[in-house]
Amino acid sequence: MNTAVTLIEVSPRDGFQSVVPIIPVADKVAIIRALSDAGLKHIEVGAFVHPKAIPQMADINQLLVELRKDTDCINNFESIVLVPNQRGTELAAQRHCQRVNFVFSVSEAHNLKNVRKSIDQSLHELRAVQQVVEQNPQMQLRVSLATSFDCPFAGAVDQQRCLEVLAQVCDICPDAQIALCDTTGKAHPFAVERLFSAAFEQLAGSHPVIFHCHDTYGMAIANVAAAYRAGVRFFDTAVAGFGGCPFAPGASGNVATEDVVYFFESAGICTGIDTNKLAVAIKLAEQIEGAQLGGSIRLLNNQ
Ligand code: COA
Ligand code: ZN
Repeated sequence: MNTAVTLIEVSPRDGFQSVVPIIPVADKVAIIRALSDAGLKHIEVGAFVHPKAIPQMADINQLLVELRKDTDCINNFESIVLVPNQRGTELAAQRHCQRVNFVFSVSEAHNLKNVRKSIDQSLHELRAVQQVVEQNPQMQLRVSLATSFDCPFAGAVDQQRCLEVLAQVCDICPDAQIALCDTTGKAHPFAVERLFSAAFEQLAGSHPVIFHCHDTYGMAIANVAAAYRAGVRFFDTAVAGFGGCPFAPGASGNVATEDVVYFFESAGICTGIDTNKLAVAIKLAEQIEGAQLGGSIRLLNNQ
């Protein structure tokens, strides 16, 4: 059976980033290995951000060194690193990363809190990021539009505004993957289907589209279903529903990888994930000190 949907594992970045205390690099490596063994072919392993902004990501250089010691493992998946600016992209290029995930927000208020820039300044930064990517052909680009639906500071985000920002991003980055993100988990499935349908119409096949969502209001699986119905085939997920967002107060973890696998596989839609092997990664996630976990299938399997 062909893989009908592609899951992008984001727990080592989005999940880990709000954990206190600092997770040992060896534990991060173990979980990333287990995720790769389970069949995850795209893993966001960390971020090149200011260590004061996100202390949990400060070990990215060491993490990459350790991951690369196991060539069988590292060659099995695309490693993605989050970057907020040109500086982070240059650091990622120096470390031979395969894909950078440039993040900024559709909401002005959230962007200012998260990356200390206006949207115009972030778009300016994106032009510089695009240039760095062009100069490093081994590296590819993804752009994530945080708060595409809702902002923790300014409330609901207007769909038209999101589509305008999307158009600007596509003009700057003709070859990037684009993620629309429900950063707070407040999106309603109807709004998700509406926004993605409009986005697909606007893009007319020009860019691959990813859905990134959080389960704060228990809507994540319904939102994944809505995005799938609109045509999305790439989904960010986090094993055991790991995490939150330090710049989105109250937000809970990403939609759980195992819940998304269950949702699609029980409808005959192949994810390419081995659930027995995924259980190993779930166990490792449960052992991480300070982890905030979510998801439903994990709890069923623990009975
Ligand atoms: N990685 C590491 N250091 C960085 C950096 C990066 N990507 N970008 C800038 N810096 C350093 C600069 O070199 C400078 O260092 P110096 O003080 O030693 O000279 C310092 O940070 C200040 O640079 P500046 O451009 O003024 O950054 P800032 O203080 O306005 O911070 C960000 C902006 C984007 C770097 C910071 O807010 C950040 O890293 N945010 C990450 C947010 C995040 O990851 N959120 C969760 C994911 S959505
Ligand atoms: Zn997120």
